[in-house]
Amino acid sequence: YALRLSLVGSEMCIRDSASPPCSATKGGISTLQRHKSIRIERQGANLWTMTTVVVALGGSLLRPEVDERHKWLEDMVGVVKNSVSSGIKLALVVGGGAPAREGIDLARPVIHDLSHLDRIGIAATRLNATIVREAIAEGGVRVSDNIPKSVDEAVDELSDFPVVVMGGTVPGHTTDAVAIRLAIQSEAAKCIIATNVAKVHSEDPRGNPGAESFDRLTLDELQEIVGPPDHADAGSSKVVDPVGVGEARENGLPLDVLDGRDPRRISSSINGEDFEGTMVTP
Ligand code: UTP
Repeated sequence: YALRLSLVGSEMCIRDSASPPCSATKGGISTLQRHKSIRIERQGANLWTMTTVVVALGGSLLRPEVDERHKWLEDMVGVVKNSVSSGIKLALVVGGGAPAREGIDLARPVIHDLSHLDRIGIAATRLNATIVREAIAEGGVRVSDNIPKSVDEAVDELSDFPVVVMGGTVPGHTTDAVAIRLAIQSEAAKCIIATNVAKVHSEDPRGNPGAESFDRLTLDELQEIVGPPDHADAGSSKVVDPVGVGEARENGLPLDVLDGRDPRRISSSINGEDFEGTMVTP
């Protein structure tokens, strides 16, 4: 057997095909607690490394307004395929983008309850997640059948499938926060925030083109930039959801923030290579 090892989460889990999945053996004979871990699973004749990476795909990346929008989706399917064949488990959390904006704008004059507007946004995220899931399935990748409606459900699906795609969960945050929570609960090495700016800036570069951009930040510094961990409004967009940044800080979860319009950057970050963007560390 070919043996490939890598560091993930906080446990070591080694099993053969006769044993239950790693997620069911925590605390059992096959689990060794460590700061970092090595997770090896035998699948058929191969032993695979099962590093988990969570990617928040901003809804704006689906870009219905752009001519070459199909290419991005096609390239993303390629990124997912390559990641899975190198033994990486992927959870993709897809944002609402244009349908969320349109739906929330249409309803805003008649719906004043923020959580009701949030639910419109959540429906849009699940529509986009379905588009991404179906494209991945069409590409021949084993992806979970369901679009999980909660982080717990997504963690369960991740123990059975190499790829899980979901959208939002409940009102009160955005899909960035969902992805960050999922990364924490699934003991992923990091969460990638794939958005439509090259790096985190000191201010929104659309308002201030002279804003400073950062290659590296601490989570505390990122929280200062995006503001306190509150959900201000339905459909409002910061470079990373402040609620999610708050949870990443509490749990010491590293974040890679990058321009997801270029799927190669997502791929580099997934594979732990140098990437263009902002690396945010505890
Ligand atoms: P998005 O995750 O797309 O947020 O969810 P966003 O930051 O506004 O847009 P992107 O990052 O550019 O794609 C759209 C809206 O859906 C609601 C929120 O109102 C959010 O702004 N939502 C989403 C929730 O209330 N809960 C969720 O879990 C997800």
